[in-house]
Amino acid sequence: MSQKQVVETLRWQGGRLEMIDQRILPSKFEYRAYASAAEVAEGIRTMVVRGAPAIGCAAAYGVALEALRLRNSSRDEFAAKLEYGFEQLAGSRPTAVNLFWALNRMRRVWQDVRSAVPSAIAERLLAEAHEVLAEDIRINRAMGAHGAALLPDGARVLTHCNAGALATAGHGTALGVIRSAVEAGKRISVIADETRPFLQGARLTAWEMVHEGIPVTLITDNMAGYMMAQGEIDAIVVGTDRVAANGDVANKIGTYMVAVLAQRHQVPFYVACPLSTIDAAVPDGRSIPIEERSTSEVTGFRDYQWAPQGVAVRNPAFDVTPAELVTALITERGVVHRPDRQKIAALLR
Ligand code: MRU
Repeated sequence: MSQKQVVETLRWQGGRLEMIDQRILPSKFEYRAYASAAEVAEGIRTMVVRGAPAIGCAAAYGVALEALRLRNSSRDEFAAKLEYGFEQLAGSRPTAVNLFWALNRMRRVWQDVRSAVPSAIAERLLAEAHEVLAEDIRINRAMGAHGAALLPDGARVLTHCNAGALATAGHGTALGVIRSAVEAGKRISVIADETRPFLQGARLTAWEMVHEGIPVTLITDNMAGYMMAQGEIDAIVVGTDRVAANGDVANKIGTYMVAVLAQRHQVPFYVACPLSTIDAAVPDGRSIPIEERSTSEVTGFRDYQWAPQGVAVRNPAFDVTPAELVTALITERGVVHRPDRQKIAALLR
């Protein structure tokens, strides 16, 4: 890779998968090590690793780790236990389709070499996991190049959640577009929504941008409308966890609110979306499964609880932005303006 890899979200080290613990950033920067599918599934569920493409990479390594752990088993035991590893990983988080995309890819590889001995299958699965990771960075670079052309020099770009290097194997999707624009010599500044309740914007996007010297201003989610009304936002770029066949976009809770405001204020609303995030099997956004997370994420943060005991709480982690509010999807194959069912079908052909 010619460009500097700034953040290694996941890395293969000494026969184990290591992932940056994103729950404790930015106060601590630590890797945690993983040696089985069950451990990786727990890392995904508890959001040590998060962001759709990074979840997909972690799941691919989860399968490979499980296969390596079982390499000396009989063929029958290997097949049964590896199957259980797939199930554990598939149950970790429901919305990011990259998880299921990566598991399907690993399953196809397994099917192709099924007659080999377990140790050879394990080595092949590990090679595939390495390829999923390397490919993700290449895809993000391609998306970045396409998306950078959409941002004018001097643009003030709002983003929601973290669709950066930390949400991928590197470079990022939405932040990849911003990084590529900066690399192309454009003066870009970022407005980061804090992203209640897990604070991916305040903790992760702000950290990535500060770390890299890209100008960033942090706002609370409820300031986005004010900023747009003041004319202080020129474009919005977000990532996505799943795009339906008609172009509806699931992303971090609060994205829909930003898209509605963008339409009201005629600010372009771009979605950076690798093809692995498009789910052609889901006809529209109503069929995208939306994760509900623990109420404790809303009633407080870490050890501090600010809401009264006994209050009813909802915590949907994602929402759906209808395709009609999306100015363009930015993919590794190019930009799809005003996405709809026909354009997405053509893109996938
Ligand atoms: O709950 P998270 O932190 O996994 O949610 C992440 C997002 O919503 C991202 O915007 C999305 O996965 C795209 S990441 C390139």
